[in-house]
Amino acid sequence: MNIPDDAFYGLLEKAIAERGNETLARAIYHALRSAILTHQLKAQSRLPGSRTLAQQLLLSRNTVNAALDQLTTEGYLLRDRQGSRVATLPTARDDVSATVQSVDLPPRFSQLPHGTRRDSPALAFTPGTPAVNYFPLPLWRRLLDRVLREEGHALLGYGESAGEQPLREAIARHLTLSRGIQCDARQVIITEGALEGLNLCTQLLSESGQTAWVENPGYSGARSAFVSRGLQIQGIDVDDEGMQFSTQSHPSPRLIFTSPSHQFPLGSLMSAARRMALLQFAHEHGAWIIEDDYDSEFRYSGEPIPAMLGMQPSAPVVYLGTFSKTLFPSLRIGFVVMPEALAKAVQPAIHALLRGGHRTEQRALALFIEEGYYARHLAAMRRLYRKRQGQLRDALSQALTVPHRVSGGEGGMHLTVQIPGIDDSWVAHQARLHQLAPAALSHYYLDQAQSKTGLVLGYGNTSASRFITGIQTLNNLIAAAPSRRGQG
Ligand SMILES: Cc1ncc(COP(=O)(O)O)c(C=O)c1O
Repeated sequence: MNIPDDAFYGLLEKAIAERGNETLARAIYHALRSAILTHQLKAQSRLPGSRTLAQQLLLSRNTVNAALDQLTTEGYLLRDRQGSRVATLPTARDDVSATVQSVDLPPRFSQLPHGTRRDSPALAFTPGTPAVNYFPLPLWRRLLDRVLREEGHALLGYGESAGEQPLREAIARHLTLSRGIQCDARQVIITEGALEGLNLCTQLLSESGQTAWVENPGYSGARSAFVSRGLQIQGIDVDDEGMQFSTQSHPSPRLIFTSPSHQFPLGSLMSAARRMALLQFAHEHGAWIIEDDYDSEFRYSGEPIPAMLGMQPSAPVVYLGTFSKTLFPSLRIGFVVMPEALAKAVQPAIHALLRGGHRTEQRALALFIEEGYYARHLAAMRRLYRKRQGQLRDALSQALTVPHRVSGGEGGMHLTVQIPGIDDSWVAHQARLHQLAPAALSHYYLDQAQSKTGLVLGYGNTSASRFITGIQTLNNLIAAAPSRRGQG
C-alpha cells in the first residue's frame, strides 16, 4: 500500500464509527471508494487480504468481502489470487475539476428576463393569479375519481403525444362557440400551460438567429422562449390599439408574439385595422403570429372579440390558450391551436418531441368542459372579477393620492397604474414586507432604463376587503420611494 497501515485502518475505522444508518459493508465500500477517487490510495497499490482486514477491523470476513466485491464489480479494485489492488483510473485534469465548480451556460441565457416570484398561497395583488378559493374542488375531486374508476389502469400508460382526444375535442368545440375559431381536435395540441405552447411553437417554427417581435412592455415568458432558443428579440411599442409596428422594419421577423385580446400588461385591445395589417404583414414576410389569447374569457363590456386565428381561413396564426387563469395555475394545462396545414405538417415532430401524460387530469378537464361546469365557472368568475375591478378602481381613486394613470382595459384580472418617475422595483420589493405583491411595471420592458414606471395590481386573488388598506400602504411606499428617471 502507498499509505502506512495506521493511516489506512484509521480511515476505515473512522468510516465505521461515523456510518450512521449505513451497513458496515457499505461504510467500508464508501471509505475505500473515496480514498481511491481522491488518490489517497494510488493505482496498483495492494490492499491487505480480506482475512487480515476482517481481523484488524473486528468484522466478519463476509462483511469485508461484500465491500471488496462491490468495488471490484464497479472497477475500482482488481482481484486476483494474491488479493486486491487498486485499478488504474483516468485522472481528472485540474481544469476539468475547475469547470465543475463554475459552469458557464451559453451566453444567450444571460439575456433571460429575471424570473418572477410566485408565492403560494399568493400574496395580495399578485398579477396573473385567479381566485383559486372559488374553484369547485369537491366537483373536481369527483370527476378525477370518476375518470379513475371508469378508466382504471388503462390510463396509466403513455397517452397520445398531442394530448387526450376527449380534451382536444372539448377544447375545439369550446373555441368554436366562444372564440369564433372553426377548428377540430386534430388542430389542437395539449401543452403544460401557454408557456410550453410558446416554447413548442418556437422550436417548430423558427431557427436560431432569426428575429422575433415581442410587445414592449409584454409577457416575459415570450422573451424567455425566444432568447433561450437563440432568436434575436425586437421590442415593439404598444399603444391603445395594441402593437405599434412598422411594415418597414428590418430584419423582418419570423415570429410575432402578441396578446391582442387584452395586451399584457397595458390592457389595450388590438384594433381591427391593426389586426388586418399584422395578418397582411405576416403573409407577405413569411412570419408566424403567435396569438396569446390572454384574458379573452374575462371581458366585462361589449361582445367577445373573436380571435385572430379565426379572422381569415389561412391566417398565419398559431393560437395559445391556458387554463392557468380560468381554473388554477398548478393544473399546468394549456393548448396550441394550429391552422390545418400546419397541424398536418408538424404531426411527425409532435410524436418525436412530446409524450402524453397527466391523462387523468386531462380526462377530468374534458368532462368539466363537456358537462357545462367550465362555462358556469367562467360566468361566475367573470361576475366576481368585474365587481372586483370596479372596487379596485374605487379604492385607487380614494386612497392613491400620488399622480397616476390607470390602464388595464375592459377586462382581465389586473389593473396597471402608471406612476411616473418612481423606482417601482423598490416599491414592489418593500410591498412584499407588507404581504403585498404588485409587480413593477418597468419589469415588463426590454430596457428598464427606457421604461414607464408604475405598478401592476392583480385583483383575481385578492378580496375587496383588502383593497383600501393595501392601496394606502402602497401610497405611503410610493411617496417614500426613490425617484427614477422614466418615460412616465
Ligand atoms: C401574458 C401571459 N400569457 C400567458 C401566460 C400563461 O401562463 P401558463 O404557462 O401558466 O399557461 C401568462 C402567465 O403568467 C401571462 O402573463
